[in-house]
Amino acid sequence: MRVYDVIEAKKNKRVLTEKEIRFFIGKVADASATDGQIAAFCMAVLLNGMTDEECFYLTDAMVKSGQVASRPATDKIFADKHSTGGVSDSTTLILVPVLASLGICCAKYSGRGLGHTGGTLDKLESFKGFRTDLTAEEFSRQVEKIGAAVSGQTQETVPADKRMYAVRDVTATIDSIPLIASSVMSKKLASFADILLLDVKYGDGAFMKTGRDADKLAKLMVSIGTAAGRKTAAAITCMDYPLGDCIGCNAEVAEAIRVLKGEKQNALSKVSFAHCAKILEMAKGINKEESERLVMQSISSGAALKKFEEIICAQGGDASPLYDASLLPMAENIFEVTAQKDGYLTVSALSLGSACAMLGGGRQREGDDIDHTVGIVLDKRQGDFVRQGERLATVFYNRKSEDAFELVRKAFTFSEKKVKNRPLIRGFVEGGERSI
Ligand code: URA
Repeated sequence: MRVYDVIEAKKNKRVLTEKEIRFFIGKVADASATDGQIAAFCMAVLLNGMTDEECFYLTDAMVKSGQVASRPATDKIFADKHSTGGVSDSTTLILVPVLASLGICCAKYSGRGLGHTGGTLDKLESFKGFRTDLTAEEFSRQVEKIGAAVSGQTQETVPADKRMYAVRDVTATIDSIPLIASSVMSKKLASFADILLLDVKYGDGAFMKTGRDADKLAKLMVSIGTAAGRKTAAAITCMDYPLGDCIGCNAEVAEAIRVLKGEKQNALSKVSFAHCAKILEMAKGINKEESERLVMQSISSGAALKKFEEIICAQGGDASPLYDASLLPMAENIFEVTAQKDGYLTVSALSLGSACAMLGGGRQREGDDIDHTVGIVLDKRQGDFVRQGERLATVFYNRKSEDAFELVRKAFTFSEKKVKNRPLIRGFVEGGERSI
């Protein structure tokens, strides 16, 4: 068998055998397949698709291409949540301490932002000294000791995905349902979470533009997780507009802290608390109302905030910004965006996320440095009625970019008619079915 033959078979729309898939991924992992061959394979999959069975073998082969973390010998329950990528989505910063404070261990491997999307590791580095490079032993030890750890995966975890993702990123092959499902699930299954909640985004700022495609991706990921023996569910949530009111690392961390203190209620807190409640239902076998009550108790008692402090300190970070927001500074230069006319507002997540990245708040290429002080803070939200001249947002920047400013201006559109938002939480998928 040659790598060429596997690509040729997928190009001709043939269903690949388990043996072919494992052979191909083996060649990706040991570097004998070239970037050109990986690109051709990914494009063939994007155009011709894969059956669920092929996708399961692809995921499993990717998991086995690297090191698989071993589950600590304890009867505690481990949970993980993963988002397919969004703008102003700091749910992990809220969910991990809430769940850990309620006795659910969060062994969370997270990623960095790319393009218009933000990344949890970048945000956590807003706390000076915070380590995102825990070794596998440090990671497991911390989870056992304080019930949570959030770190980047080691170089040895799913190396096949690292190569494939880098090639997909530059060959317009990211937005393929089987490739996204196998990429995300391989990283989740290489860790030891008993419970997985996948937050599948749909809309303007997401890989999946329609709710239907998001449903398909969610069902596929849930079936892969379930087949691998993990209790898996997916939430399908809207990413037409930014989830929170802040975009950019320091601004998003400050917002997440306010949610943890119970000082802020918005779409970000709604989605974060709904995710916490869903995981509690799955972990404890309790109903939605009881789960929601426990989540709110964790916030109002201060237990979640205290747990966040423990996590930051355990990973070498300075937790002072939890009690002094001025320690999360914003860039000194300010550009204010005002309403061009009266109307109901539409706010594009894609445009604002891209503008923040262009100003240095995100990265265009993997490995780029980012500026934590760059950000966009929204005064008005999707669906609000605004009057001409009212301030819509403030952009904080160090490096001026007229292109980015133009993108921010264009992110806001005005309509005479009330804007009908698509549902913030479209539904949940469990065991292959959408429950609401
Ligand atoms: N996130 C991933 O980890 N992989 C993808 O393919 C898309 C989003």
